Amino acid sequence: MTRVVGTRLRRPEGPDKVTGRAMYVADDVPVGCWWGKAIRSPVAHGELLGFELDPAFDFSQVVLVRAADIPGVNVVDLIVDDQPILASDAIEHWGQPLLLVAAADQATLDAAVRAIDVRVRESEPLLDMEAAEVVFKEIVIDKGDVDAALASAPHVLRRTYHTDSQEQMYIEPQGAIAWPEAADGTVLVRGSLQCPYYVQRALARALDIEPARARVVQAATGGGFGGKEEYPSVVACHAALLARAAGQPVAVIYDRHEDLAVTPKRHPARVRHATGYDDDGRLLAMDVDVLLDGGAFTTLSPVVLSRAAIHAAGAYRCDAVRIRGRVVKTNHVPYGAFRGFGAPQVCFAVERQMDAIARERDLHPATLRKRNALRLGDTTATSGRLEESVGSEEVLAKILERTGFEDHPWCQPRPAAGRKRRGAGFSFFFHGAGFTGAGEVHLKAKVDVRLAADGRCEVHSASTEFGQGTVTMFTAIAAEALETGPDDVLVVEPDTGAVPDSGPTVASRTCMVVGGCLARACRELRARIDAHGGQGAEGSFRERARAFLAAGGDGRVEVTYASPPGLVWDDERYEGDAYPAYGWAADYVEVEVDLDTFEVSMERFVSAVDVGKAIQPQLVEGQIEGGSLQALGFAHIEVVGTKDGRFLQDRMATCIIPTTLDAPPMEVLLVEEPFSHGPYGAKGVGELPMDGGAPAVASAIEDALGISIDRVPATPERLAAAWLAAHPEEAL
Ligand code: MOS
Repeated sequence: MTRVVGTRLRRPEGPDKVTGRAMYVADDVPVGCWWGKAIRSPVAHGELLGFELDPAFDFSQVVLVRAADIPGVNVVDLIVDDQPILASDAIEHWGQPLLLVAAADQATLDAAVRAIDVRVRESEPLLDMEAAEVVFKEIVIDKGDVDAALASAPHVLRRTYHTDSQEQMYIEPQGAIAWPEAADGTVLVRGSLQCPYYVQRALARALDIEPARARVVQAATGGGFGGKEEYPSVVACHAALLARAAGQPVAVIYDRHEDLAVTPKRHPARVRHATGYDDDGRLLAMDVDVLLDGGAFTTLSPVVLSRAAIHAAGAYRCDAVRIRGRVVKTNHVPYGAFRGFGAPQVCFAVERQMDAIARERDLHPATLRKRNALRLGDTTATSGRLEESVGSEEVLAKILERTGFEDHPWCQPRPAAGRKRRGAGFSFFFHGAGFTGAGEVHLKAKVDVRLAADGRCEVHSASTEFGQGTVTMFTAIAAEALETGPDDVLVVEPDTGAVPDSGPTVASRTCMVVGGCLARACRELRARIDAHGGQGAEGSFRERARAFLAAGGDGRVEVTYASPPGLVWDDERYEGDAYPAYGWAADYVEVEVDLDTFEVSMERFVSAVDVGKAIQPQLVEGQIEGGSLQALGFAHIEVVGTKDGRFLQDRMATCIIPTTLDAPPMEVLLVEEPFSHGPYGAKGVGELPMDGGAPAVASAIEDALGISIDRVPATPERLAAAWLAAHPEEAL
């Protein structure tokens, strides 16, 4: 039995956020701070020839930073050193930073920007990923003899699916403030970010200083969704270079237009499936080819591709699987991390393929899912055996019981019902928690807890809060393990000068991995206090903690993550236990499609999700509802198009996301199939809800209209075209 875990705590940081006391980066610009900005490429591909400075403007009042002025390496530190902080000659994408400017006030900065002309020689950009020749990363997964299994399968279905890009649309745009080197040689950056230690490494390399001399503090952060995973390193380097040049603190804070125009978004994908199956729809062979548009630089594309490849066969058992994944270079603005991290793209494809097989075999899609779902003891596409915490059957049973979907005559002829057609759709999926393969072993996440003088327990970690609930979840885990109440726990601000490196706040790892370390640290601290005072000693937790400190007790415990024993991963063959545990889920959607406007209205949404253990059920439900709504937007509303390498939707007026009016009533059915190595059984939930919404919506639209949906977003324009192709008599 747990006392705090599983209850509904008040969010510790909540009151400051709702009363406006929380300090976002733009709320806390120090007096005398300068303002900085990047001058960007006006072309998608070409060569930088130089800058023309208008002699009418007095450039002595501003500072300029060129590539040659960077004291360290001109590289945004991430996976591969191919992305310059500032272009020096080659230009690889529209909006690429070329030159930095800062001024003491915004009006002067704007005037300076207007007085600078960029001279470039433009060349033909490569914008079609199918034609790309530079491969950032290729992954091949092989299980069994796919060619033989396809050759002998009674039925083979070959289809191709596409997903377009998607914008994270966090509430607060990117921003950072940098202070010039202090007397002790330390550079300070405060910013809106997910991963303080990524930013620290990037600053250290750019400035050629020891990492410990680059101090990164996370300001209150208004959303991330993966979009503040890699790009804050760019903003921070720009601000720090300008602060160094100006000798003043410099704020680089994007407005929405700049943020939408140049920051990384979800990778567009093309996924081809060839699936062999028997008369009953049992999967015999899956041959999957995944292609992602990486944009101009590598950024996080190799790991996005990795997650895409590993999830490409879906949550299904099949003895013969081949998955080939590639992410290629184009002259688009670099694509990057976005909640789901490659999985939503491949989940759309495999779920649509399952629906197509159901139609071919005249089976109900729910029956097909139940027949093929991975279960305890099965092996995944990477041949990892599922040893525990597999909630697949329970999420399927729960959602089918709640929705009665099995009795719905999916895609069966129904009497035509006027100009509004209703349909229901379904998806089944899983998502690995934590870094892939040996990632967590290399990362060695650390957490430490310390008793403060007042007896409270301070939690020190680099895991950031950006709306998803880290602080509340950590408070619950710590209070539970310390056997006290939430008021005795204080989660401190992530500051690389004060907290250990817990790894980045990404990959659905914060609860399972970092939370697991936190639980261990707090149990150890509790044991020390108990040993000192004798278990069951009188007094409150704080009183006993203070007595422990007064007696000279060591009130600091640091824990480093240890992977669950028995996990095996071969990074060369892409084989083994890709993740220590998976979250499992099924989504159900009802839609109504208007045959005149082709708007799709979401009428009902139900999600059954196995999270292992809901540390904070209200937050978990919030994660599921929010992620699912993003997935519904991805399915039919959110358009992120490009032209000549520029994003067309670069204003909030045109870059549409769902609002409350677009949100259906949502029901969340939690399933708790505990994972023995997660804190109190918990796995991850951050990304999972993003994966299944789009295929469920497509399935429901297909049910409503009888036309197959192989691409998202299924916009009114696309639906109208598909409908008219199927019903030429309705063409005007
Ligand atoms: Mo990320 S998409 O924050 O793993």
